[in-house]
Amino acid sequence: MMITMQGKSPVHQPVLLREMMEYLVPQNGDVFVDGTLGMGGAASLASEAIAPQGFFIGLDKDAESLDIARNNLKKVAGKKELVHTDFRDMKSVLDELEIHQADKIFLDLGISSFQLDQDTRGFSFDKEGPLDMRMDRSSGLTAADVVNKFPEKELADLIYLYGEERYSRRIAKRLVSLRDEKAFETTRELAEAVKGSLRGTVKPGHTRIHPATRTFQALRIYVNHELESLEIFLQGFVECLKPGGRIGIISFHSLEDRLVKTAFRREVGQCVCDAPVELCKCPKKVNIRLITRKPVIPAEDEIFDNPRSRSAKFRVAERVKSI
Ligand SMILES: C[S@@+](CC[C@H](N)C(=O)[O-])C[C@H]1O[C@@H](n2cnc3c(N)ncnc32)[C@H](O)[C@@H]1O
Repeated sequence: MMITMQGKSPVHQPVLLREMMEYLVPQNGDVFVDGTLGMGGAASLASEAIAPQGFFIGLDKDAESLDIARNNLKKVAGKKELVHTDFRDMKSVLDELEIHQADKIFLDLGISSFQLDQDTRGFSFDKEGPLDMRMDRSSGLTAADVVNKFPEKELADLIYLYGEERYSRRIAKRLVSLRDEKAFETTRELAEAVKGSLRGTVKPGHTRIHPATRTFQALRIYVNHELESLEIFLQGFVECLKPGGRIGIISFHSLEDRLVKTAFRREVGQCVCDAPVELCKCPKKVNIRLITRKPVIPAEDEIFDNPRSRSAKFRVAERVKSI
């Protein structure tokens, strides 16, 4: 997702855009909900495709991104409503608008390159900035609150769980000992401390991603309740879709993709618990059919153009008509 400038408003290069259009097939008259509006890149194509009779609804919990999207979408035809909210509340937004259900729902999870590249937001370990990391800056704990106040065990657990970092205990121990001398305030301070705690863990001849990558991912996911929002949304997404309507979700790491895959399996009527067959209480009701059996991944030319797209996975499903 590269940032480019058109006039004064930043836009970015969305991931798997061709595939979003191909699998969601937005068309004139559709109600299209983009739950992760970002800069409005995917939104502008979708809103054009559903105009003039369609209704585009865009959600984002980042007020600044929403303002940029509003500007970027100004000249795009058709009826639109942009709302500052978490996509976990999509059903209430649809009910308030008296629309109730959508023809197409799209989620492109995580953060945009605009958010990542802004040093004032604190998302990136290679930019000096305040240790914030909140998408919604109007509420909630910052990454600094978590790093400076959480007990060592809790810190280690969240770095392990959300960052899948095998050295989480070692990192948490070092952070706690350093913060006793001086509280962490900036991204560089944190990145350096994590790097210091991992010295000697990479075998000669082996390369590793930046040592702070997983810790930063963990803090971002925790601070923004990312998996919780996705889980809540996935519990009720079928109700947000018209029969025959489609949903497409792009995820960027295995924790997200696992949640999407499991929810789709449950709604296809499969067992998703670990219990023996005779004890399984999974509803086994067929609410959707899978449009993509395996996740769609970016083509080589897209990865070449935009290396950040390399971990993207796109899954699509359709609500069945006979419910
Ligand atoms: C990868 S970007 C989306 C980019 C967008 N598709 C485009 O083409 O510009 C993800 C966006 O979703 C927003 N976001 C992430 N989780 C969210 C949530 N739970 N509710 C609402 N917005 C969320 C982020 O603030 C960010 O702007």
